[in-house]
Amino acid sequence: MTDSVPTLAADLTSALTATTPGSRASGSTGPSAARTDGPARVVIDLDLPGATISRHLYGHFAEHLGRCIYGGFYVGEDSEIPNTRGIRDDVVEALRALHIPNLRWPGGCFADDYHWRDGIGPREDRPRMVNSHWGDIVEDNSFGTHEFMDLVELLGTEAYVNGNVGSGTVAEMSDWIEYLTRADDSPMASLRRENGRDEPWTVPFFGIGNEAWGCGGNMRAEDYAALARQYATYVRDHGGNRVTRIAAGANVDDYAWTEALMRAATNLERRDGAAGPYQAISLHYYTMTGPWEDKGDATDFSDEEWYLTLSRAARAEELVARHATVMDHYDPHKKVGLVFDEWGTWWNVEPGTNPGFLYQQNTVRDALVAGIHFDGFHRHADRLLMANIAQTVNVLQAMILTDPESGALVLTPTYHVFAMNAAHQDARALAAHVLLPEEVTEVDGRPLPRVSASASLREEEDAALVSLSNLDASAPRTLVLDLRGREVTGHEATVLTGASTAAHNTPEQPDAVAPAPLTDVREHERGLEITLPPHSFATVRLQLGE
Ligand code: AHR
Repeated sequence: MTDSVPTLAADLTSALTATTPGSRASGSTGPSAARTDGPARVVIDLDLPGATISRHLYGHFAEHLGRCIYGGFYVGEDSEIPNTRGIRDDVVEALRALHIPNLRWPGGCFADDYHWRDGIGPREDRPRMVNSHWGDIVEDNSFGTHEFMDLVELLGTEAYVNGNVGSGTVAEMSDWIEYLTRADDSPMASLRRENGRDEPWTVPFFGIGNEAWGCGGNMRAEDYAALARQYATYVRDHGGNRVTRIAAGANVDDYAWTEALMRAATNLERRDGAAGPYQAISLHYYTMTGPWEDKGDATDFSDEEWYLTLSRAARAEELVARHATVMDHYDPHKKVGLVFDEWGTWWNVEPGTNPGFLYQQNTVRDALVAGIHFDGFHRHADRLLMANIAQTVNVLQAMILTDPESGALVLTPTYHVFAMNAAHQDARALAAHVLLPEEVTEVDGRPLPRVSASASLREEEDAALVSLSNLDASAPRTLVLDLRGREVTGHEATVLTGASTAAHNTPEQPDAVAPAPLTDVREHERGLEITLPPHSFATVRLQLGE
């Protein structure tokens, strides 16, 4: 994979390989549970807040893929579906309710085929291109830079623009950031004005290519690291715009890739003190139960596949912890952020749909996959700068599904997890220790406690939010929230579940899986006693005494 031997990554890999079955590798920090003789408990010290959970951990991703952009976000001005300059009003309304902090665009693999100049100017004059990764269809470029930035403004979110390294040029990337963010009469700012936008936009995040080890150019780590330094140099800060440049990071457990990027990231201190030449490194990992050829069915799965899925979702946290260990070695003060900008479930496409469009249903299982990811993200808030679920509308683990014929919009169970967890954004992480009376069994070589939890504190509101997942497919779980350090003066609990693990929402049954008040909550000498239904996700908002 690399020409030189990356010692730290090699050491880490051999340490993990040497781990005996049933034990946990040192440095491995996936979800865990201690044993207790008493009832199941989640112990939280409300007066010991840790790192701030960046709101950007709740980020999103919209690629020119299947019906994500076209038919999902964008229907065109002539559509019968209510829209603003072609962007669906109902999609915007639903996503505004989530307070989505950032949106990554235009890919994904598509980004390294995309030439931004093809997507500006009068639509009828825009050249066409082949979207070779996703369905081999012809893209008419009717949704381009101005349409994306319009969407960003309608959503009230921030732009994460992903540039093209694989088939683009340094000059093209340099011009794009100038076009987007420069205020004066520079060539690119003038061109933007000719196309109808006077004021520069704000672009806080810029991706230096995508999956450079694969669809982004099939590069070796050191070769890409050299290119990333070069390209990132020309993604300039124009005027007051400050860009976080995100180098295309590792696939799953390729620690050598992260190490190569960390080596190349150091010894280049920018004048303003930010680490350089890129300030963050990405990571991609998808949850699936089978191999690429047969990733598993979105709605038809056994209990065995249920637990396998949840264990594989829990792997995301191990990956974050281990990549962070590599990063810590080179960057102990955590100047370089880890950006988990593609995560989520990847199932076989729905029968009868284009295999290149990655359209899949979304069940209670997907909701718990999201819950597990967020619990892990909260625990690693000190290194994780951003995370982006793939993808927002009609692709992979989507928030929103739209019907291609009727246009009807459905909110998925995953959408509801994002909504229920929204108050974790920019709150401070609280450790949530899970204690269970039963022995934790392994699934897929990984201990999988049947309860997952995390918590955070909003100091300015004297409030805390606790997220709880009952991962048991069929049994309810009663547990005690053991709340220490602050007085709890009120609580409000919400639960998300369905009639089965595979329950999901459709235009005919849009609320088969929808949040509801959780009433099975009782005062307890240690805090609160709660009963969670089987296969459920819940949040408890705690009001704290001053
Ligand atoms: O999200 C779908 C695809 O998965 C992205 O385009 C690519 O980056 C990844 O392989």
